[in-house]
Amino acid sequence: MIEHFAEYGYLHLKNIVPKETIKTLWDFYNSTPYFDDPGDTPFRGPSNYRLENWDDLEKVDPIKSVDEEIQAIIEEHTGLELIATYNMGRVNTKGQKMQKHTDRVPCEISVTMPIAYSDWPWPICAHTSKGKKEFTLDVGDILIYKGCEIPHERNENRYSDITIQHYWHYIDKNSEVGAFCREFMEYPGWIGQNFMGNYESLVKTKNLPLPGEDFGRMYMEEMKKRAK
Ligand SMILES: [Fe+2]
Repeated sequence: MIEHFAEYGYLHLKNIVPKETIKTLWDFYNSTPYFDDPGDTPFRGPSNYRLENWDDLEKVDPIKSVDEEIQAIIEEHTGLELIATYNMGRVNTKGQKMQKHTDRVPCEISVTMPIAYSDWPWPICAHTSKGKKEFTLDVGDILIYKGCEIPHERNENRYSDITIQHYWHYIDKNSEVGAFCREFMEYPGWIGQNFMGNYESLVKTKNLPLPGEDFGRMYMEEMKKRAK
């Protein structure tokens, strides 16, 4: 399995998520309010629901524990060390489509996992180096794929009035992006002052992906402003 994922960038793991975990998520979805988010890309069509107050919910149990459990499964079957970036859920309705797309950088390793279908599984298609593959995921299965490399889509949902899917996203700790993240994660609050302050150390190490010229120019301007 590890070789398959390394070579082709996807892995369909069948009946891998324990029933208790599915039940935990099912109960969670049944006790958490939703809001309709029709502009949620890459989905098109009728209503698409997301859970409210997600930024707070994903940091605590039960989601935090399930996130750790899913990460352990993925690390075992891909051989990767992962940094969890974020996860989220959607409740999709009949008639929707998921347009063909690749994911953003925080989704270097992506996982889609069905929690429930009202009728029949809504397949996901991935355009892999082995050609276009359609995956019908049963509840208990997950599909792992390199989200930034492998375009994926779902054709019109003619299968279920309601489907509940959860998505988990990670960065490979040992990829170029992972090295970049680890450098900044050593500094609490890196998104502000520390990020600017460490540009020079990045330049010195020369073994990390460097910010582009625009960033260098902005940094120098910011430093000049601070010196005044
Ligand atoms: Fe995606």
